[in-house]
Amino acid sequence: MLSLRGVSKRFRLDGGWERPALQGVDLFLAEGDFATVIGPNGAGKSTLLNVVAGTLRPEEGQIWLDGRELSHWPEHRRARWIARVFQDPLRGTAAHLTVEENLALAWARGRRRGLRRAVGARERRRFQEWLEQLNLGLEHRLKQPVGLLSGGQRQALALVMAAATRPRLLLLDEHTAALDPTASRQVMELTCRLVAEHRLTVLMVTHNMEQALEVGNRTLMMHEGRIILDLQGEARRRMGVEELVASFARLRGERLVEDRLLLG
Ligand SMILES: Nc1ncnc2c1ncn2[C@@H]1O[C@H](COP(=O)(O)OP(=O)(O)OP(=O)(O)O)[C@@H](O)[C@H]1O
Ligand SMILES: [Mg+2]
Repeated sequence: MLSLRGVSKRFRLDGGWERPALQGVDLFLAEGDFATVIGPNGAGKSTLLNVVAGTLRPEEGQIWLDGRELSHWPEHRRARWIARVFQDPLRGTAAHLTVEENLALAWARGRRRGLRRAVGARERRRFQEWLEQLNLGLEHRLKQPVGLLSGGQRQALALVMAAATRPRLLLLDEHTAALDPTASRQVMELTCRLVAEHRLTVLMVTHNMEQALEVGNRTLMMHEGRIILDLQGEARRRMGVEELVASFARLRGERLVEDRLLLG
């Protein structure tokens, strides 16, 4: 389904190169895989999502989706198959447009071929149904600008819009991190429901270790631009949150030692 082969990405700094953000990453996601991605700050999680979405071009490696090589495709071309929701609720929706207009845009983006006609009564009814399912009262606010909604409402809407584009792959980058605990839980529940309903393949970055083990069917741990752990099946079921946190802490420790060595 999604396949990354030897993907490397480095950023230029004044007078040289930074440590690689991705180092020869190989990853294969099967159809319907829902992988959570964890790792310390700067591990390369967002960079991984960015090279898949086409926001960033890797120096090396290939990216394949459904048997097509996308490596040289611009971001907007990949967007027909790949949807994203970011941490910042302001990024997924257009604030000055109404709830209905935002949904209509997403819906039009999902029509890959054929006419992109205006939203009709049938679509409007469908939007209303989606919003009713959210239980956030958004179905009564179709004509309001999205800028008036709360962060949680906007993230929920961004998710529904992402699903409305009928993507093959959904990329979530800490999309519940900026929300209060209740909204965060609601958006996570909605995520799981939409993923199941539309049978999406997902990469979801999170700093929540419990979530990383409970949601989806795989857990990837990144460290210094590499995927150093790929938990699935029995091994994932056996892994406890404490053990995962401990291996995380060990990583941080190693980094500290390394830095000290460098300083010394
Ligand atoms: N646009 C950029 N320009 C320069 N360096 C960048 C850029 N984006 C990321 N980096 C660097 O690449 C490395 C990986 O960053 P990335 O954002 O992928 O980490 P992350 O795992 O998402 O971290 P976090 O948990 O803090 O979001 C870091 O060293 C970061 O400073
Ligand atoms: Mg990040």
